[in-house]
Amino acid sequence: MLRKGALALALSSELVAAAINNTTPSLGFNQTLEQTWAQYSPYYPAAEYTAPPDGCSIIQVNLLQRHGARYPKKSDGKAMKKSAEQLQGASSFNGSEYDFLANFTYDLGTDDLVPYGAAQSYDAGQLHYTRYASLVSENMMPFLRASDSERVVESALNWTAGFAYASNQQYAPVLSVIIDQSTNDTLDDNMCPNVGTSDDETTDWADVFAPAIADRINAAAPGASLSNSDIVNLMMLCPFETVANEAPSPFCDLFTLDEFNSYEYYGDLTDYYGNGYGQELGPVQGVGYVNELLARLTGQPVQDETQTNHTLDSSPTTFPMNLTFYADFSHDNQMISIYSALGLFAQPHNLDPTQPDTERTWQVYKMVPFSGRLITEKLSCTADGETGEYVRILVNDAVQPMDFCGDTGNGLCTLDNFVESQQYARLNGEGDWALCTD
Ligand SMILES: *[C@@H]1O[C@H](CO)[C@@H](O)[C@H](O)[C@H]1NC(C)=O
Ligand SMILES: *[C@@H]1O[C@H](CO)[C@@H](O)[C@H](O)[C@H]1NC(C)=O
Ligand SMILES: *[C@@H]1O[C@H](CO)[C@@H](O)[C@H](O)[C@H]1NC(C)=O
Ligand SMILES: *[C@@H]1O[C@H](CO)[C@@H](O)[C@H](O)[C@H]1NC(C)=O
Ligand SMILES: *[C@@H]1O[C@H](CO)[C@@H](O)[C@H](O)[C@H]1NC(C)=O
Ligand SMILES: *[C@@H]1O[C@H](CO)[C@@H](O)[C@H](O)[C@H]1NC(C)=O
Ligand SMILES: *[C@@H]1O[C@H](CO)[C@@H](O)[C@H](O)[C@H]1NC(C)=O
Ligand SMILES: *[C@@H]1O[C@H](CO)[C@@H](O)[C@H](O)[C@H]1NC(C)=O
Repeated sequence: MLRKGALALALSSELVAAAINNTTPSLGFNQTLEQTWAQYSPYYPAAEYTAPPDGCSIIQVNLLQRHGARYPKKSDGKAMKKSAEQLQGASSFNGSEYDFLANFTYDLGTDDLVPYGAAQSYDAGQLHYTRYASLVSENMMPFLRASDSERVVESALNWTAGFAYASNQQYAPVLSVIIDQSTNDTLDDNMCPNVGTSDDETTDWADVFAPAIADRINAAAPGASLSNSDIVNLMMLCPFETVANEAPSPFCDLFTLDEFNSYEYYGDLTDYYGNGYGQELGPVQGVGYVNELLARLTGQPVQDETQTNHTLDSSPTTFPMNLTFYADFSHDNQMISIYSALGLFAQPHNLDPTQPDTERTWQVYKMVPFSGRLITEKLSCTADGETGEYVRILVNDAVQPMDFCGDTGNGLCTLDNFVESQQYARLNGEGDWALCTD
C-alpha cells in the first residue's frame, strides 16, 4: 500500500505542470485597468498564496467561491442597451474611438455564465486540488454545495472538472447539494425583504464623478445628451462586453484609466451600502453561512436561527461533519454579507459617497471579482511541544488580518478565540434578523 505522503510527493511535479495549464484566456487588457471593473473584474489573486507558518499543517479547508464571469442581469442589460443607443443617436462624432458605434448592436445574453467564467472556475478547481491535495483521498472527497442559480451550479461543475483534471482524473468531486434560492439558503441573499439599497450613495458619487465625463462625451457627440447614469452604463459595457467576447470592448476606449478608477469606487459603494457594513441588514445575511462554518470547524452541529435550512443542516447526507474539504458556490452580494458578518474588511468609518477614501481596504475587485474566493483554513500547529488548533482566512489568496480574535500579525487565531469572536453570528445577528421581515 502506498503511504499517503509518498503519493502526494510523487504527484507533486505533475501537479505543478497541471496547475500552470491555465485555460482562462487573456482579455487583452492589463491588470491595472481590469481591476477598475470592481465586481466585474476578472479574478486575480490579491496576494501570492503563502503556506501556513512552520509547525502548522492544514487539516481542513472551507472554500466559498463566486461564480465565474457572466452576462449582465436583465435590468443592467436593458439600461446599457438604452445608453448605447442614445450615444449612437448623436448627430456627429469627434474622434475615431467612436467609429465602432456605426455598426454596434447590443447583443449580450442575460445572467448566464460566459465561457470565460467557466474557464475561471475550472482553473480554480485545478489550483485548489494542487494546493490541498494532501487533504483529499478516496474516503475524503470535497463536499460541494451550490446555490440554485444556473451560473453558480455550472461554476461548481466546472470547478469539479478542473479539480479532476489536476488529479489526473483520480478525484472527481460531485455536487451534492443544490439549494433552492426561494427557500432557506445560506448561499444567497434572498431572505431579507426589508434590506435597503445603495442607490443614494451611488447616485451621490455619480453626481460627483460623472458630469465631467458626460460633458466631454456630449461635446464630442452632440445630441447624445448623456446623463450621469448613462455614463455609468456605458462604462459597465466595457467589462461585460470584454468578458463575453474575450476581446477588448471598444467601449473601454471611451474612458481614461482615471475615469475607470472612479467607476471602481462606484462598485465599492454599491457593495458597501448594499450588503456590507453600510447596510443595516447587510451583515446579518451572512450569519447563516458563518454558523455553518463554525459547525464545520468545530465538528459540532449547526446552531442558527437565520437562513439555514434545519432539515438540510441536520442530515449527514446534506451536511456531513468532520470532513477535510468543503466547497460552496455562491454570489458576490452574499459573499459581501458573509465578509461583513465575519468582521473582515472592517473600515474605520463608513465610506464617503462623495470622495474616495484612498486608505480604504474595501475595494471590491479584491473581494468579489468574478470567481472570487473566501478560504478558511483550519490548522494544527505545534510549538514548544504543544499542539493546538488554529484558523486563518484568505480572500483571493490574501491572508486577512483578524485583530478581532487575537491575530498577532501572522493571520492566525486559535480556533477557540475565532469561535468566541463570532458573537454576532452566534447570537443570530443580535436581533437584526427579525428586522429583515418585521
Ligand atoms: C494542458 O491542457 C491541454 C488541453 O486540455 C492538454 O492537451 C495539455 O496536455 C495540457 N498540458 C499540461 C502540461 O498538462
Ligand atoms: C494599463 O492600461 C492603462 C489603460 O490603458 C494605462 O493607462 C496604464 O498605463 C497601463 N498600465 C500598465 C502597468 O501597463
Ligand atoms: C474635436 O476634438 C478636439 C479635441 O479632442 C478639438 O480640438 C476639436 O476642436 C474638436 N472638433 C470639433 C469639430 O469639435
Ligand atoms: C461597418 O460595417 C460596414 C459594412 O459591413 C463596413 O464597411 C464598415 O467598415 C464598418 N465600419 C466600422 C467602423 O467598422
Ligand atoms: C463548464 O460546465 C458546463 C456545464 O456542465 C459545461 O457545458 C462546460 O463544458 C464546462 N466548461 C469547462 C471549461 O469546464
Ligand atoms: C429545506 O430543505 C428541504 C430539502 O431540500 C426542502 O424540501 C425544504 O423546502 C426546505 N425548507 C425551507 C423552509 O427552506
Ligand atoms: C466530529 O468530531 C467532533 C470532535 O472530534 C466530535 O465531537 C463529533 O462527535 C464528530 N461528529 C460526527 C458526526 O462524527
Ligand atoms: C427557515 O428559516 C426561517 C427563518 O429563520 C425559520 O423560521 C425556519 O424554521 C427555517 N426552516 C427550516 C426548514 O429550517
